[in-house]
Amino acid sequence: MKEYNIPFNKPYLTGKEMHYMYQAVYSGKISGNGIFTQKCQKYFEGNYGFKKALLTTSCTDALEMSAMLSGMKHGDEVIIPSFTFVSTAVAFLTRGAKIVFADSRADHPGIDEDKIESLVTPKTKAIVPVHYAGVACDMDKIMKIAHRHNLLVIEDAAHAVDSFYKGKPLGSIGDLATFSFHETKNVNSGEGGLLAINKKDFINRSEIIWEKGTNRAEFFRGEVNKYGWVDIGSSFLPSEIIAAYLWAQLENLERIQHRRKEIFNIYFEGLTDWALENNVQLPVIPEYATNNGHMFYMICSKPEQRDSLIAYLKKNGVYAVFHYLSLHQSEFFKLQYSGAELPNADRYSETLLRLPFYFELTDDEISRIINLIKNFK
Ligand SMILES: Cc1ncc(COP(=O)(O)O)c(C=O)c1O
Repeated sequence: MKEYNIPFNKPYLTGKEMHYMYQAVYSGKISGNGIFTQKCQKYFEGNYGFKKALLTTSCTDALEMSAMLSGMKHGDEVIIPSFTFVSTAVAFLTRGAKIVFADSRADHPGIDEDKIESLVTPKTKAIVPVHYAGVACDMDKIMKIAHRHNLLVIEDAAHAVDSFYKGKPLGSIGDLATFSFHETKNVNSGEGGLLAINKKDFINRSEIIWEKGTNRAEFFRGEVNKYGWVDIGSSFLPSEIIAAYLWAQLENLERIQHRRKEIFNIYFEGLTDWALENNVQLPVIPEYATNNGHMFYMICSKPEQRDSLIAYLKKNGVYAVFHYLSLHQSEFFKLQYSGAELPNADRYSETLLRLPFYFELTDDEISRIINLIKNFK
């Protein structure tokens, strides 16, 4: 593989990861749901008001848990944006649900909230908005539609740790929410995720599904004197070694967020004039949303402009990438797709480009990238 002198991503190490992992290893308890898991879960419950937080081995797993908890079954319908990662759809599809794709907004890759209600049918069970780039969807609009039609809302907050909608933490608004700690995310554990459970009726069952369909979590707390098989589930909990790594990241979340927002602002200011002159759109943050410095993307005017800019940066040692191919156009789904055209989702698939983004990216490196882009013909 080609070595880039500015890669797309570098997972950040705070310096405490090995120390906590060592502690976990020598504590004699390295399976899941130990001290570090509890610390991480309490962090999310305490700081973001999630009624219950469960660490998972990925956001994909948290989405699968959501599908199980929602009681998703054959014939139920789920509305999701087409411009998202495969996992948002596959978690519900594997439980037999029909995926109904919605378009993105014209000004932002998030789901077009005004297109959701026309997709609701008597079979619709849930809406799964994705807070793309950590920028909130208009949750008031989505929650109103959900209440009118008695639907569940599952926030795919894979990108959205420590981001807010009208002052409310993302992940605290829907019935359920899922986060990712994959190595490209603001805080990471290599692979990792979290399920936030805000609907009280789901709390007890969530722990059971998390623990392979058993009531082992209750047993560990001494609430029952033996545990057994009580429901469906799978092995969704990470080992303590992963939770220990994540804890080192969470302890430094404020510092990580501060630098990532600085990086975003340097890109934004440095590229504003060039973008205007070249008909390129920079990220839009609606007034009700915050920016959590998850990524810096640009929307080019044409697919050829995007592809040649990626190739030009690559030639100069900078690894920029596209993001998401609309799922309704995917090899797996396109033959079964019978819905309307989704022009915005397609446009983002063909024209969106992400620039290198990681904590240790220096101001000089960002300037180099900006200058390269300004010299792009
Ligand atoms: C919107 C969205 N949902 C879900 C996922 C899956 O996350 P994970 O890799 O933690 O399973 C991703 C991956 O980045 C994503 O972008």
